[in-house]
Amino acid sequence: MAIRKITNLGHPVLRQVAREVPNDKLGSPELKQLIADLCDTMIEYEGVGLAAPQVFESVRVFVMYGGAEESDESSPAPIVWINPRLEFEGDAQAEGWEGCLSIPDLRGRVSRHEAVVVSGYDARGEHRSVRYEGFSAVVVQHEFDHLEGVIFMDRMKDMKSLTYVREFDRYWQTPEKEEE
Ligand code: NI
Repeated sequence: MAIRKITNLGHPVLRQVAREVPNDKLGSPELKQLIADLCDTMIEYEGVGLAAPQVFESVRVFVMYGGAEESDESSPAPIVWINPRLEFEGDAQAEGWEGCLSIPDLRGRVSRHEAVVVSGYDARGEHRSVRYEGFSAVVVQHEFDHLEGVIFMDRMKDMKSLTYVREFDRYWQTPEKEEE
């Protein structure tokens, strides 16, 4: 078990376009180690998703909770995406609150596609596609953005909703609005 340090906003790695994992590295021990570390780090810091650039590794890998068939409700395991591709289903978008482990203490409202199909590789190097909607669709778009060097604030149409967590909890958090 290895908990990695998380990059804060301002570190150049968060603004790089991450490189693809080469085919011959899919399912490799090094990649499995990175995935295990991402999961441990995400759990330690109570995130719902974590992308490799957030632990200083500029490769197209992220882990997340929720949504996929293999995730058992009683013991949800993080889901791994390697070299993912996104396909948006229709134009419908929904706005919700987002935060980011690399931007601690801030929240802001972001519009995201409501439904998205992700295809890519799992930890064993097997290809698959999963359709996400609702909160999982938000998480997958947020994490995918990290592979493109994009952060949630770049997606905010109006910066007026930007708030510290303390003020978020005090003034903005309602059960139906909570997105994290
Ligand atoms: Ni993030």
